[in-house]
Amino acid sequence: MKALILYSTRDGQTREIAARIAQALVPQQLCDVQDLAESRQIDWPQYDRVLIGASIRYGHFNPMLMKFVTQYKSELEQRVSGFFSVNLTARKADKRTPQTNAYTRKFLEQSPWQPGCCAVFAGALRYPRYRWFDRVMIQLIMRMTGGETDTTKEIDYTDWSAVQTFAREFAQLPGKSL
Ligand SMILES: Cc1cc2nc3c(=O)[nH]c(=O)nc-3n(C[C@H](O)[C@H](O)[C@H](O)COP(=O)(O)O)c2cc1C
Repeated sequence: MKALILYSTRDGQTREIAARIAQALVPQQLCDVQDLAESRQIDWPQYDRVLIGASIRYGHFNPMLMKFVTQYKSELEQRVSGFFSVNLTARKADKRTPQTNAYTRKFLEQSPWQPGCCAVFAGALRYPRYRWFDRVMIQLIMRMTGGETDTTKEIDYTDWSAVQTFAREFAQLPGKSL
């Protein structure tokens, strides 16, 4: 049996985290990594574990995340499952748990699917890569929240050792008989 890691990303950080988790799972666990946007045809029977990761943009996950977990609630619940969210609010240590990170808490409250494990990771701030409007908006948000405002900077806030730890936690969740 294999693990499936699905990610929803805009700028690639969530894909990067998904790839790191996959690396940590292999070779103990075979693993496929797929973009949630391209996951219309999932061959469910080959997977006994599913992990979903999604990033925040302007206060929201991609709406396709809630659609997906609603549509595939029973497939997800039959398997060992986990969720991680990626956002810049989580660069602050007191906003980095599923309960203290408002986006994640709200998602868990509204989702019909409840993952077996959950993590919140700080994402990346890459000003030079954003289009003008996004750069100005993010700079404004950073100014209001005491973050980096130098638009020449690219900062990776992800705690990669926490990503490794979460991969182990996910791998160690007890299996379910399908
Ligand atoms: C246009 C834009 C809007 C964002 N809005 C938010 C936000 O509302 N709250 C937040 O915590 N982070 C926000 N972020 C930060 C992203 O969640 C962060 O950059 C993350 O690494 C993006 O992950 P991705 O590359 O997988 O999409 C925003 C980033 C961009 C570029």
